Amino acid sequence: MYIDSHCHIDFPELAARMPEILAKMAENKVTHALCVSVDLPDFPRVLALAEQYPHIYASVGVHPDYEDTPEPTVAQLVELADHPKVIAIGETGLDYYRLEGDLEWQRERFRTHIRASRETGKPLIIHTRAASEDTIRIMREEGAGTDKGGVAGVMHCFTESLDVALAAVEMGFYISFSGIVTFKSAKDLQAVARALPLERILIETDSPYLAPVPYRGKMNEPGYVAHVAEYLADLKGVPLREVADRTTDNFFNLFKAART
Ligand code: NI
Repeated sequence: MYIDSHCHIDFPELAARMPEILAKMAENKVTHALCVSVDLPDFPRVLALAEQYPHIYASVGVHPDYEDTPEPTVAQLVELADHPKVIAIGETGLDYYRLEGDLEWQRERFRTHIRASRETGKPLIIHTRAASEDTIRIMREEGAGTDKGGVAGVMHCFTESLDVALAAVEMGFYISFSGIVTFKSAKDLQAVARALPLERILIETDSPYLAPVPYRGKMNEPGYVAHVAEYLADLKGVPLREVADRTTDNFFNLFKAART
């Protein structure tokens, strides 16, 4: 069995095909999926899916790429996270690739999420792009990670260097690989995946984006996370079963609220 640790099946293009998407998950033995929130106005539809389907979980947070959207407060995130199916805070983080100019608001928003994570005890889902130095610095300053008595989380859809991965792992974080790792051009990322122990790895689709080979360029969906697992098994030279079991255990070890 596999778990898609990060998807956006509440997005209209996927939500409109829900019966098909759930059937593909079952066919590919993808037993659970975490539907990740990107802003507060759309959070109700994320939660609705988690309430409707026992094997779908939700997170609450505001994505760093969403500039013109209501800014969350710590109290608001804490309140919205107070639900048995909300198992994580995010996605949050920093993105200096998509947005330019004074991004202090992005860093403040990131701090807000880390504080909410510490208050709720629910792990962080972190997006970082072209901003790894500030991301790690703010994580340290705000006491993210188990080494500072905080809560760990996951560096999702990871595309940074091994050094960044190891800095996060040192803080108790997991590293999640998406379909990007299966792309022919992703040699550096493949080297990172090879170097990291399976004990720290999660798998995800980030659907509807970034479909893994052999579906590259098509609309992605949670069922395809099996292809990320297959690729990692080949890359690391370990049995597929081991990747499946380990990433599943890792998911439940990190997202403890998903056990109940
Ligand atoms: Ni995402």
